[in-house]
Amino acid sequence: MVYRDKEIYNTFGLKAVAANYVEYCSLDELLLDIADAPRPWLHVGGGSNLLFATERYEGTVFHNAMNAVEVIGRDSDCVTVRAGGGVVWDFFVQWCVSRGYYGAENLSLIPGEVGAAAVQNIGAYGAEAKDIIESVETLDTETLRERVFSREECGYGYRSSFFKTEQGRRFFILSVVFRLSLKPGFNLSYGTLKDIPQESLSLEAVREKVIATRDAKLPAPEKTGSAGSFFMNPVVPRSKYEELAAEYPDMPHYPAAGDMVKLSAGWMIDRCGLKGYRLGGAGVYDKQALVLVNNGGATAGEVLSLAAEVIKKVKEKFGVELHPEVQIIKNG
Ligand code: EPU
Repeated sequence: MVYRDKEIYNTFGLKAVAANYVEYCSLDELLLDIADAPRPWLHVGGGSNLLFATERYEGTVFHNAMNAVEVIGRDSDCVTVRAGGGVVWDFFVQWCVSRGYYGAENLSLIPGEVGAAAVQNIGAYGAEAKDIIESVETLDTETLRERVFSREECGYGYRSSFFKTEQGRRFFILSVVFRLSLKPGFNLSYGTLKDIPQESLSLEAVREKVIATRDAKLPAPEKTGSAGSFFMNPVVPRSKYEELAAEYPDMPHYPAAGDMVKLSAGWMIDRCGLKGYRLGGAGVYDKQALVLVNNGGATAGEVLSLAAEVIKKVKEKFGVELHPEVQIIKNG
């Protein structure tokens, strides 16, 4: 289905229109519509990690509406499940939990869709999408051939993948194949999940705890516009962390690959006294400083100015540079 001048849904609640918009329900439909779609091309998921710096996108926005979930394999330990890129992520998690498939429960209630989850390697409460992804089925939009990426070929890292790179953007994710465990096993390393009493431990209990924790800290997209965490948690050399820890002994920190240390951007923004700070309609969320919100009528310019101010203050106080996790969309 091809639309002209269509409004693009985004959880920030910012005004954004696509000059051309293609919504496809199958590979065949995508192949028909892509042939004469004006460039540049932008493939979007649920609009939960995007900030439109322009009110009108002058190319073609594509949205995958393939939304089937099916079991495609099973052995004594695991099931293999294919989910269309347009499946709402939390529907997929709930589907897994209700069938007794282990591995997706910590990622409950993350906004967005399956395709975007595989681009972004979404993560929460000690788990990441890559932990359960087996392969990713794509269309190479240059050759118009299908290509399947194994998990290794996806190049997953912290909120990153090959699909986020310059060369990777031409691959549109059609569907994702997940491998989920049939044998009980939980990942309870994250603070609040440890509070679940052993006797009531179940997939449903973990899902409920994650939902309660997220509800307490993160704004509900239908009430307050936001794109979840606006910044990535910065990863710094151990020596930099030790220098900061001498001054701020209570600074949260997590081990990262290659003797690096991951710091908490939310904690640093909070320590700069910015929680609840407002700039026009944009603000730093008062329950979680990592989230920038639209308090009503915010413009993209206000959100970007606020982000620049946050980056500057954190740099001045801690000497650490923050980078947006949210994808900023401009023309050209
Ligand atoms: N903290 C503060 N003040 C704040 C925010 C956080 O002091 O305003 C402290 C917390 O008390 C905690 C630490 O900072 O000690 C870390 O905070 P939290 O556990 O809330 O997690 P986070 O690092 O802020 C990450 C992900 C979230 C994910 C949570 C839970 C990133 C960029 N964010 O946030 O993901 O839900 O962990 O696992 O990695 C998202 O990516 O959109 C997202 C919501």
